[in-house]
Amino acid sequence: MATDTANAPRPMGGPWGLKITGVGAVLPEKVLTNKDLTAWMDTSDEWIRERTGIAERRIGGSTSGLSTEAAQIALANAGLDPGDIDQVILATTSPDHICPGTAPAVARELGILAGAFDLQAACSGWVYGLVMANGLLLQGMDRVLVIGAESLDRITDYHDRGTGILFGNGAGAAVVERDETGAGQLLSWDLGSNGNYVHILYADHGDVLQMDGREVFRQAVKVMQRSATASLDKAGMTADDIDLIVPHQANIRIVEAAWKKLGFSMDKTAMVLERTGNTSAASIPLALDDALRAGRVNPGDNLLFLGFGAGMTWASAIVRWAE
Ligand code: UT7
Repeated sequence: MATDTANAPRPMGGPWGLKITGVGAVLPEKVLTNKDLTAWMDTSDEWIRERTGIAERRIGGSTSGLSTEAAQIALANAGLDPGDIDQVILATTSPDHICPGTAPAVARELGILAGAFDLQAACSGWVYGLVMANGLLLQGMDRVLVIGAESLDRITDYHDRGTGILFGNGAGAAVVERDETGAGQLLSWDLGSNGNYVHILYADHGDVLQMDGREVFRQAVKVMQRSATASLDKAGMTADDIDLIVPHQANIRIVEAAWKKLGFSMDKTAMVLERTGNTSAASIPLALDDALRAGRVNPGDNLLFLGFGAGMTWASAIVRWAE
């Protein structure tokens, strides 16, 4: 059960940490392949694969529905009941409604009466949520559910050659708990934004996403490099100390270009982009789930989560994995 003292600040000092004890991910059933797009768009499977690394994306479902399913799996994997959760954070760019937030409906579906709010930091949202969760644990909470979920098909024009080839739906959720042993830790983090770049990726009320793809590409490489370096520096680490990098899945060429500058290797990188497309706030927990299920994460490993997105926003966090 959620503790009575959930809102009481914890004393600092002593072993204290964070562990991700359950992860869940879901994709809607309907597949939209590159070949499907060629039926109405002047493009080709080869071009999309080569320029983005994407083969297919999923459409359908709702942000609340996908969130609920992913969260149920995460809770089951953590061995927890809904009542154990002290807070729900839902990172999304495509909420069910403009108002209210989608998180309360997800909490209701899960049977959670704790606080629930949406976090809008575009594709960086889940990493922002992870850092917020760490702060809430420090404030006295025991368990925070951090979800990243999108139904981007609601704001994507699948006739547009720039955006229609990229975006898809999906959800990933993680149960983030206090680790009294201190073995698991959020070792460092870096959050940033530059509102001068609002115009390069946005959607107005009732409209679809508009994007200056080339400029997003340029800025993405820059801010990924900057944020990863900031988190590594704060943790006193170098690229060699990182066991697995879980980046935002936007375009394989963005990752490769940033990795060249950072000295990261693709072998140590979790990628699901080819079969998910860009799922914005869902992309990092989707890739984390895939890496976990592939047995690529071991106790003591250092994981670097690294996102960027509309805003522009960027976020990185280094987590020492507890279990
Ligand atoms: O979460 C963040 C979300 N956003 C992103 O990550 C977007 C980052 N940017 C990108 O991923 C890339 O800019 C795109 C994949 C969107 C576009 O790739 P690009 O290499 O920047 O293409 P471009 O717009 O510079 O166009 C190059 C050529 C043009 O032809 P010409 O003028 O060289 O003959 C375009 O007409 O590719 C053509 N083109 C396409 N061809 C086939 C543009 N889009 C397409 C397409 N299919 N879908």
